[in-house]
Amino acid sequence: MVPSRLRGLFCLCTCLILVHPFDWQDLNPVAYIKSSAWVNEIQALMAAAGFIQTGIPRGKGSYSVGCTDLMFGYNDESTFLRLYYPTQDDDHFDTLWIPNEEYFFGLSKLFGRNWIFGKLLHLFFGSVTIPAKWNAPLRTGEKYPLIVFSHGLGAFRTIYSAIGIDLASHGFIVAAVEHRDGSASATYYFKDQSAAELGNKSWLYPKQEEPDRNFQVHQRAKECSQALNLILAIDHGKPAENVLDLEFDVKQLKDSIDRNKIAISGHSFGGATVIQALSEDQRFRCGIALDAWLFPLGDEVYTRIPQPLFFINSEKFHHFQNTTKMGNFFLPDKERKMITLRGAVHHNFDDFTFTTGKIVGYIFILKGTIDSYVAIDLSNKASLAFLQKHLGLQKDFDQWDSLIEGEDENLIPGTNTDATNRTLWNSTGIGK
Ligand SMILES: *[C@@H]1O[C@H](CO)[C@@H](O)[C@H](O)[C@H]1NC(C)=O
Ligand SMILES: *[C@@H]1O[C@H](CO)[C@@H](O)[C@H](O)[C@H]1NC(C)=O
Ligand SMILES: *[C@@H]1O[C@H](CO)[C@@H](O)[C@H](O)[C@H]1NC(C)=O
Ligand SMILES: *[C@@H]1O[C@H](CO)[C@@H](O)[C@H](O)[C@H]1NC(C)=O
Repeated sequence: MVPSRLRGLFCLCTCLILVHPFDWQDLNPVAYIKSSAWVNEIQALMAAAGFIQTGIPRGKGSYSVGCTDLMFGYNDESTFLRLYYPTQDDDHFDTLWIPNEEYFFGLSKLFGRNWIFGKLLHLFFGSVTIPAKWNAPLRTGEKYPLIVFSHGLGAFRTIYSAIGIDLASHGFIVAAVEHRDGSASATYYFKDQSAAELGNKSWLYPKQEEPDRNFQVHQRAKECSQALNLILAIDHGKPAENVLDLEFDVKQLKDSIDRNKIAISGHSFGGATVIQALSEDQRFRCGIALDAWLFPLGDEVYTRIPQPLFFINSEKFHHFQNTTKMGNFFLPDKERKMITLRGAVHHNFDDFTFTTGKIVGYIFILKGTIDSYVAIDLSNKASLAFLQKHLGLQKDFDQWDSLIEGEDENLIPGTNTDATNRTLWNSTGIGK
């Protein structure tokens, strides 16, 4: 990072140390400083300061990408999503990655840190932009397939832009929903119209006690379907007001969606949401579960997914109990695929893997031994091939068909958790 910013941080830390109320009875203030937890946080951040990157990759497809946020309705039942879409405008990198300070507070709470940590995160990451043009007009003259995307636990709608942007650059509209089930590290809504006009946001943070995860996954699946309802209604020409009052005119979305070509994707808790949503909503014609955390799902769901389902796993996240659970979906006559990214970690699917440098990336396990750009590229290309096959797209994504089978030096066909691999392979012939 630029030295001036580092200097700024140093000054800030010095000030914080000065204003921190010392217990002067403590005979050894230096030891006191060293032992206090918040200083460790600052130290960690100062260490981080030299290594922060802003390298979220551009889409690899031929379309330029626009981005906007949409919120429909009021209260915590409103629908909130970030939309990535093809645009005619030239590429601009002016979309803010994490647009509100409160998301950083949410993240710091999640890490069990206090607000200072959030402030510092905001200082470093608050001005990071992603390779998409904010509120650019939608590219006209084509109907686009639609992907609804569901984020992971402690995440929120904006931090999967490497996936959203790549899909949009290949001619998809991507609706990354922000969940209101308490699993986002932060989210907001407006109580009513006047709150929206005043910009008076109501923020929602995760509760302290462990929530009912099955209840949450049901709510999450409903939110995905609700987002789909709204987008399809706008596509039909139904007037809808974006309560965020942004420059992007939602009327542009009229007749923009290829209504028979809808799929759902998600990461971690979002992977479970993919499966729950497939079981409840047949409009989703196939699903992609990225490093899915299946624990929240009830057992009844195994037999209720007629649609094709693709598991893309990281090598480091799963134990064999978990992939065994995935194995339950591999039933005769059902289209199931599974590949594993060699050397990848759970965060290889979200943007944090690109916004931190190597050292911080390794310390916080945001990076694996595989290059983060190689990993997301493989995941995105395999996803595109799978989507072409099961949505019946007329594109050239079938050039990556072999990735669906795990044929690449950085891929493992099936899973690395050996015992399950054998069971999967024998019982279902996923290799076929
Ligand atoms: C913002 O909303 C909160 C909660 O609804 C309310 O208590 C507060 O008065 C509002 N602030 C303004 C400036 O209207
Ligand atoms: C793996 O399974 C265990 C036991 O059911 C569960 O507690 C854990 O959350 C699972 N982890 C993943 C990554 O699915
Ligand atoms: C999983 O099984 C397939 C098919 O037998 C095999 O190609 C692959 O190497 C296996 N993966 C591991 C990690 O054993
Ligand atoms: C799967 O097949 C292999 C060889 O074909 C065999 O050795 C193994 O025991 C089988 N596993 C199961 C769970 O049936």
